[in-house]
Order: sequence, then C-alpha cells, then structure tokens
Amino acid sequence: MIYIKENINNVDEFNMLYDLVGWGAYNRKISQKALDNTFYSISVYQEDNIIGFGRLIGDSICFLYIQDIMVKPEHQRNKIGTLIMNTLLNKINEIRKENPDVKVYLGASKDKEGFYEQFGFIRRIDAGLGYGMILK
Ligand SMILES: CC(C)(COP(=O)(O)OP(=O)(O)OC[C@H]1O[C@@H](n2cnc3c(N)ncnc32)[C@H](O)[C@@H]1OP(=O)(O)O)[C@@H](O)C(=O)NCCC(=O)NCCS
Repeated sequence: MIYIKENINNVDEFNMLYDLVGWGAYNRKISQKALDNTFYSISVYQEDNIIGFGRLIGDSICFLYIQDIMVKPEHQRNKIGTLIMNTLLNKINEIRKENPDVKVYLGASKDKEGFYEQFGFIRRIDAGLGYGMILK
C-alpha cells in the first residue's frame, strides 16, 4: 500500500533518497539540521519503505520555496511526484487563505521544468522577471 504522511521518519531516509536521485551523499548532521528547520515536509511510503519526499522551506507566510522533490528511481513516472506536488500545493492553498499574496518559488533542475509547468509554475523570464541566481 502506498501512503503519504507529514515529515519523514528519519534523516537516513532523506539521505538515501538524496543519493539515489543522483544528488550525492549528504552529511547526517547537516541533513538533520535542514529537516529540523523545514517548514513543512511530506514523505511517501510503500509499506514501510520511503519512495518519495518533498518539502516547503521559507518564512511560512510570505515566501515559500519548494525544495527536494525526490522520487526513488524505480518509482518514477508513476505519479508519485504528482502526488507530492499536489500535497504541497494543498498546504500552499491553506496559507493563501491567510495571505493571498504568498509567493512560491522553486529552482527546477535542468530539463525538469516540464514537470513543474503542469502545476502552474512558469519560467521567471515569461513572467517578465530576471533569471534566478545562485551564489557560486
Ligand atoms: C522529477 C520527479 C520528481 C518527477 O516525479 P515522478 O513521480 O517521476 O513524476 P510523475 O510520474 O508524477 O510525472 C507526471 C508527469 O510529469 C512529467 N514529467 C515527469 N518527469 C519529468 C521529467 N523528468 N522531465 C519533464 N517532465 C517530467 C510528465 O508529463 C509526467 O507524465 P507522464 O509520465 O504521463 O508523461 C522525479 O523524476 C525525480 O525524483 N527525479 C530526480 C530528482 C529531481 O530531479 N527532482 C526535481 C528537482 S527540481
């Protein structure tokens, strides 16, 4: 059975997914701190095995960032990512009731823009904005 729940059981599950999707190994202490400071996160399990994860970071009311959407490779293209995104968007809709102007950002990995477009995200350039930037 596939089910979704808030948070994640432990940092090792987060690091395992991170590694499996090709983002490399992360230090346990750093990952734990990142999870502790996360505003909202959800995990998808099949039986007791994690197969997906996603989180919202930010100030909880004005600016939110969608971060670390990860689906275990053998479960990709099975709508798990869609389930994760829709659950995060439900949370965002709750926040919108309090602040209709909440801004929601994400940094798409290369060639993953198409995945996010189906949820209403547009490229900054098409919104008349500059490129997103990252500190080197
Ligand atoms: C990107 C990712 C989260 C998508 O999750 P998923 O469960 O495989 O996606 P879904 O099955 O819900 O896909 C739904 C639709 O999104 C689109 N889509 C899925 N993966 C895509 C990709 N890599 N690029 C472009 N569009 C994609 C397709 O239209 C797909 O529908 P289809 O399978 O009927 O063609 C997943 O592939 C993943 O974890 N990748 C590695 C980590 C990563 O890059 N995360 C995103 C960081 S920005």
